[in-house]
Amino acid sequence: MKKRVLVTGAGGFIGSHLAEALVKKGYEVRAFVHYNSFNSWGWIDRIDEEIKNSLEIFNGDIQDPHGVRKAMEGCEMVFHLAALVGIPYSYRSPESYVDTNIKGTLNILQAAKELGIKKIIQTSTSEVYGTACRPSINEQHRINPQSPYAATKAAADFLTLAFYRSFNLPTVLMRPFNNYGPRQSARAIIPTIITQILAGSKIIKIGSLYPERDLVYVADTVRGFIGGAESKSAVGNIINIGTNSTVTIRALAGIIMKLMRVNKKIEIQKERVRPKGSEVERLKADITKAKKIINWSPQYNLEQGLEKTIAWLRKNHHLYKPFIYNV
Ligand SMILES: NC(=O)c1ccc[n+]([C@@H]2O[C@H](COP(=O)([O-])OP(=O)(O)OC[C@H]3O[C@@H](n4cnc5c(N)ncnc54)[C@H](O)[C@@H]3O)[C@@H](O)[C@H]2O)c1
Repeated sequence: MKKRVLVTGAGGFIGSHLAEALVKKGYEVRAFVHYNSFNSWGWIDRIDEEIKNSLEIFNGDIQDPHGVRKAMEGCEMVFHLAALVGIPYSYRSPESYVDTNIKGTLNILQAAKELGIKKIIQTSTSEVYGTACRPSINEQHRINPQSPYAATKAAADFLTLAFYRSFNLPTVLMRPFNNYGPRQSARAIIPTIITQILAGSKIIKIGSLYPERDLVYVADTVRGFIGGAESKSAVGNIINIGTNSTVTIRALAGIIMKLMRVNKKIEIQKERVRPKGSEVERLKADITKAKKIINWSPQYNLEQGLEKTIAWLRKNHHLYKPFIYNV
């Protein structure tokens, strides 16, 4: 019999790719999408019809414990990705991040405990580490959130670990570094650069150029999540998902321009620069644990992942609003 799993945040960037991959692997997928009056299922509206038709759509709000519990009934595993993720918006509306990211995770954990769910895959983020204190960040690195977003994700991580320790709840904490790929919001750095180039902008406007990031292609992340879910030894662990290499934002813009065969001027737009103490200067994943526990390492290098992302954005650029910087 097929295993039924719940994916929260299934209408989003990573969640939609994960839901597709799980269907292809033979899981029965219940997709938790954020209820709205347009009956929009986010990116699920645009995936392959056959896969879409095989999904069981559950409309709800992660902040509501009753709906969350209902969504989890009959599921063996829960992949919890629903969250508010934009850092700039978290400066303005931090309380909504507390309600969605912390309370939402608590709702999942509490229902999982009551329902006896066999595994909870909780989605963390490299942002909880803050600027790296050593060349590469392993899972023992200090936790030092530098934005309200990161603080709420760290709190959700600690709740998850506390439920594992207190109640033996079988949790796996996946900690992806910066993701990119088709369907990512235009607020993120890679789609920001590509969509501006595709719109014919003469000047590419971005934030700070010096931060270094470890960029992981979304298909690799999805494979890591499924690996974490399918491995018995992953339970109770935190697992970094990254590439163990970095690129500065300046160099990244250069690589994208080269791949797109354009040469544009870059301008730092001050609204896009994070407050000084909030800027995470360097993130580079130590992925020893992912290799050891779930036999995972990335399959895409940066150029391969960027080629795929650029090709997808060339076809789907019309789905993105014309570039205006607003949080
Ligand atoms: N994109 C990255 O680089 C990255 C890196 C590390 C971790 N993450 C984590 O991965 C997860 C997915 O991020 P993403 O980049 O796909 O973002 P996304 O914004 O595309 O997806 C988030 C999803 O959560 C849903 N959501 C938000 N509030 C909700 C609510 N109240 N009820 C129900 N659903 C709600 C949204 O509708 C959206 O579909 C998040 O937990 C994020 O913190 C992302």
